[in-house]
Amino acid sequence: MKQEIRLDVNHMMADFLGMQYGIDRGDVDAMSAHLKRAHAVVEANRGKGMHGWMDLPYNQEKIVEKINRVAADIRAKFDTFVVLGIGGSALGPAAVQQALNHLHYNDLPKEKRNGPRLYIEDNIDPERMAALLDVIDVSTTCFNVISKSGGTAETMSQYLIVLDALKKAVGDDYHSHIIATTSESRGHLIKLAQKENYETFFIPEGVGGRFSELCPVGLLAAAVCGIDIQGLLDGAKAMDERCKTDEVWDNPALLDAALMYIAMQDMGMNMSVMMPYADSLKLMADWYAQLWAESLGKNVTKKGMACNVGSTPIKTLGVTDQHSQLQLYTEGPYDKVITFLKVESFRAQTDIPHGCEEIPDVAFLGGKSHNQLIEAERMGTEYALYKSGRMSQTITLPCVNAYTVGQLLYFFELVTAYTGELLDIDTFNQPGVEESKVAAFAMLGRDTEKHNAKRDEMKTRPERKKDYIL
Ligand code: PA5
Repeated sequence: MKQEIRLDVNHMMADFLGMQYGIDRGDVDAMSAHLKRAHAVVEANRGKGMHGWMDLPYNQEKIVEKINRVAADIRAKFDTFVVLGIGGSALGPAAVQQALNHLHYNDLPKEKRNGPRLYIEDNIDPERMAALLDVIDVSTTCFNVISKSGGTAETMSQYLIVLDALKKAVGDDYHSHIIATTSESRGHLIKLAQKENYETFFIPEGVGGRFSELCPVGLLAAAVCGIDIQGLLDGAKAMDERCKTDEVWDNPALLDAALMYIAMQDMGMNMSVMMPYADSLKLMADWYAQLWAESLGKNVTKKGMACNVGSTPIKTLGVTDQHSQLQLYTEGPYDKVITFLKVESFRAQTDIPHGCEEIPDVAFLGGKSHNQLIEAERMGTEYALYKSGRMSQTITLPCVNAYTVGQLLYFFELVTAYTGELLDIDTFNQPGVEESKVAAFAMLGRDTEKHNAKRDEMKTRPERKKDYIL
């Protein structure tokens, strides 16, 4: 029997939290027509426009074969694999590696790893690139340059640095150290890849960065590190099948979208806290944060009406952040929904030995396990939130494996797509990130009409006042 992840929304509901702080079941039922319409629109768009991600569990048989073949080759030839990418081109690969491989994967001796060491470089902090080059040997490293647009400055600057380092280290053989993952039909990276004869994987046009983990963007790094990529896709498919119904009480992603929508729009819950109680799922919170923020933070509806919607995702980790954030969650403003990610069966059992018998506060832990302690603390936090009238929900993974992680990824993608429909916004664009890019490149002196105009425009900003700089 395949293991299904489960969504438990009891602690979102008025039955638990009362009418003031919880959601009345009747309010969900009252939205039935709105929910069915959102579901219908997402379904009608399956595979079309920017909904290509919905096809990924079904249409990649050939690609998976190629990925596994290339991955085997990489494992045989290289001892390090580096992903160069940012945003959707990095957060998924990092989340899946953290979830499905050893928590100290890179530190394991070679024979205990499932593949080469993996580094995911998603920033241009100069110290970070220098630090990477300090710990890898480029002559035994394969670099996967991932950019759908093929023009992202951060990624392409990394490419230039790596290309230079490779040419110095291995000469003409640099070609065999670079793999491009990009759009088949547009952007500079595909042209470079063709000119340089790099091994290339394509990101389907209808798959946006933050929805791209289940295409070669994420699957190649995962396969290189020995992860069962077919298992990921099977999990996504199983979640997709579960969510084909438009009956909200039978479709976990639709139910979650409905509750998040009501919480956000009607109850002022403008923050969404993702709190995995498992280090393996820690980076899922980062991946979710991008998906949720970039997809739903919008200022116009599809019809162009001003709206300013979205809720701010917050990345946390249980139990660690109980000692950092929980005070705020239980006593601060009523503005958050907390989503716990719970793991039923961990891949390790850590027993706590007896000891310190003279100190009852410590001795009581003896004979228990970290497995028991972490879940007791999660339940304690859920209870504390309940008692203070705060909304929480729990997604349980029976265990963390490719199949359950595939379900989880696809679940959040669907929740995001449905919520975007409920909000009547374009879930798949990100116009709000453009201004900062143009301003940055204008300051760097880029000489195009757009950048020159931006430079002029930026000069009209008020002068900084000395009084405000201490
Ligand atoms: O979700 C998105 O579309 C973005 O976050 C992109 O993934 C990110 O900007 C990187 O873009 P690209 O893959 O074109 O380099």
